[in-house]
Amino acid sequence: MKQIEAIIRPEKLEPLKDAFLACKINGMNVRQVLGCGNQHGWIARNRGTSVMINMIPKIEIKIVVADDRVEEIVQVLIDTVRTGEIGDGKIFIKPVEECIRIRTGERGDIAL
Ligand SMILES: Nc1ncnc2c1ncn2[C@@H]1O[C@H](COP(=O)(O)OP(=O)(O)OP(=O)(O)O)[C@@H](O)[C@H]1O
Ligand SMILES: [Mg+2]
Repeated sequence: MKQIEAIIRPEKLEPLKDAFLACKINGMNVRQVLGCGNQHGWIARNRGTSVMINMIPKIEIKIVVADDRVEEIVQVLIDTVRTGEIGDGKIFIKPVEECIRIRTGERGDIAL
């Protein structure tokens, strides 16, 4: 099992949710986060003064999938949220040791 963590633009949450539901993922967690990438934010100009805005609102999505679905899900993600502009976000993939469905006690892929 792997956890796919994606940091995306807030306006991409709805389309991504639809795309994920269409390919029958088992569950997801969504959080609002503040973050910055390589540009370290952006410069806002207001009446002649410039202010560095370092932390930009983003959406963090975490889903756990069976190993053999990782590439398919990553491709859906990229196809749905990519604009080609800076700030499109990032995907982190991490190993997940175990999943246990509390109601039944099932473990592993079947519990996803
Ligand atoms: N190395 C990182 N570690 C943790 N979070 C990150 C990292 N890089 C990016 N993020 C998160 O992803 C968000 C979007 O990052 P962003 O797309 O700007 O990355 P980037 O590497 O600067 O790419 P780009 O050049 O396309 O902007 C950030 O606001 C932050 O929340
Ligand atoms: Mg960036």
